[in-house]
Amino acid sequence: MCSLLSEVMASMDIEEIDGLKVYVLAEDYAGYNSPFLAQHGISFLIEGIEYDKRILFDTASYADPILFNMRILGIDPKTIDMIVLSHSHFDHTGGLSGIMRQIRRSIPIIAHPNIFKASFSTEPRLLYAGIPLRGGTKYEIEELGGKWILSRDPIKLAPWAFTLGELKKEEKVDFEREVTIGLYKVEGGRVLKDEVEEEIGLGIATERGLVVFAGCSHPGIVSMVKKAIKLSNYNIYAVIGGFHLIESGDERIRSTVRALKELGVEKIYTGHCTGLKAESVFLEEFGENFERLHAGKIITVAPKD
Ligand SMILES: [Fe+2]
Ligand SMILES: [Fe+2]
Repeated sequence: MCSLLSEVMASMDIEEIDGLKVYVLAEDYAGYNSPFLAQHGISFLIEGIEYDKRILFDTASYADPILFNMRILGIDPKTIDMIVLSHSHFDHTGGLSGIMRQIRRSIPIIAHPNIFKASFSTEPRLLYAGIPLRGGTKYEIEELGGKWILSRDPIKLAPWAFTLGELKKEEKVDFEREVTIGLYKVEGGRVLKDEVEEEIGLGIATERGLVVFAGCSHPGIVSMVKKAIKLSNYNIYAVIGGFHLIESGDERIRSTVRALKELGVEKIYTGHCTGLKAESVFLEEFGENFERLHAGKIITVAPKD
């Protein structure tokens, strides 16, 4: 392990939070007979039951459905203490400036330094995939009070919360080493394959074990969970987010589900880009410990009695 990472990890003196509450503010599915609005993307509001810190993880495609759902849930956007952006894609960053306009104060925004890169697909035509104009430029977000903290390394956000940092190739399990999602990026004037190296996850330590949050899991959800375990020395209780298995074949899906089981994951909450086929395998393997995400869902990790 490089000395910098060991230094970061040594400073990561993690304390468990008693209980955790997660509000799903945005998801591709609204839920059955639900008053909430769905949209493409993910946004989670994460808070400790005993703490008043509120972390917003991702901002989906648009701010308005998130703010609508917050009103129904009785959550004031001004109570958000920090924002973590998992990666640059529009369905995770598009709501940023609209939400910052409601927060109206100075808060940290944590992301990878490559969050502003030009990422695009060329099939069937050129399509920009990064932070959209409505999400705001770096400068516009600063004007609204956002303090960018851009880091490739893991960062401790609270005694019980830390980001995973960039997933290096050598930190990945074999079957997740190749990221092939048909995106390109421009670096130094050259067009390169975009492997979404900027994606970071979030780990929260609870009395029941670690809860890992992922936006799209482009680096691979198994590799992300493994890194969270390595950084914290905790067992994994739950994994929450999109796993981007929507275009994956049976073998990759089965390997992912099997690996998460072997890592001791107890609960799976997924949706977004995971895809129906992978969800059905999670349901088969995790039974009632698999839950489909939807807008307005509240996930509670109760303290141990
Ligand atoms: Fe996504
Ligand atoms: Fe994505």
